[in-house]
Amino acid sequence: MPEGDQEEGAAAALTGLRAEAARCKRCPLFGPATQTVFGEGPADARLMLVGEQPGDQEDVAGRVFVGPAGQLLDQALAAAGVDRARLYVTNAVKHFKFEQRGPRRIHDKADVSEIEACRWWLNAERKAVAPTLTVMLGAVAARSLTGRAVAIGKERGRVFALPDGTAGLITAHPSAVLRVPDAAARDAALAALVSDLRAAAAFVE
Ligand code: URA
Repeated sequence: MPEGDQEEGAAAALTGLRAEAARCKRCPLFGPATQTVFGEGPADARLMLVGEQPGDQEDVAGRVFVGPAGQLLDQALAAAGVDRARLYVTNAVKHFKFEQRGPRRIHDKADVSEIEACRWWLNAERKAVAPTLTVMLGAVAARSLTGRAVAIGKERGRVFALPDGTAGLITAHPSAVLRVPDAAARDAALAALVSDLRAAAAFVE
């Protein structure tokens, strides 16, 4: 199939998936959340970034990585010389899971059954986009795509084969960088994230 037709087909597939995902009831997380937050980016992206789940701001905006973690991610991508507009960015879990504490909604970690239920969408996105490399931001994304618990510190920064035979690279989640209390240690964590993103970009060049 000519490349242009392939890209149009992938874009149409993503549009269909996004519409379907808006009605998703594969797990109970759709109930309290405002909306499904589906992935975004060009259908022919060579690099796909997979985060954990939408946060409070993403849940309201309906867009991935627009809150504080997104700002840190943008900063890291800029430092790595990677244009976010060329990436397909999505999450392992498409609904915000939270605990209501007074007026505040506090992020709650998705459990394995929720990660597995949502993998259907992530696999469909990966099939449509067919990225050269999938970057997993943090343990939830890594769990979703490897099917096992991953120690980020031990496994980050190198390209390896995912169970489906495609290339993957694990790095830290931007929120983990934001949570580092000491400024110098936080700078080092950001530098490590930038270095991993550089390695990912070099792989797809
Ligand atoms: N954290 C994520 O993992 N994804 C988002 O979209 C926002 C914050």
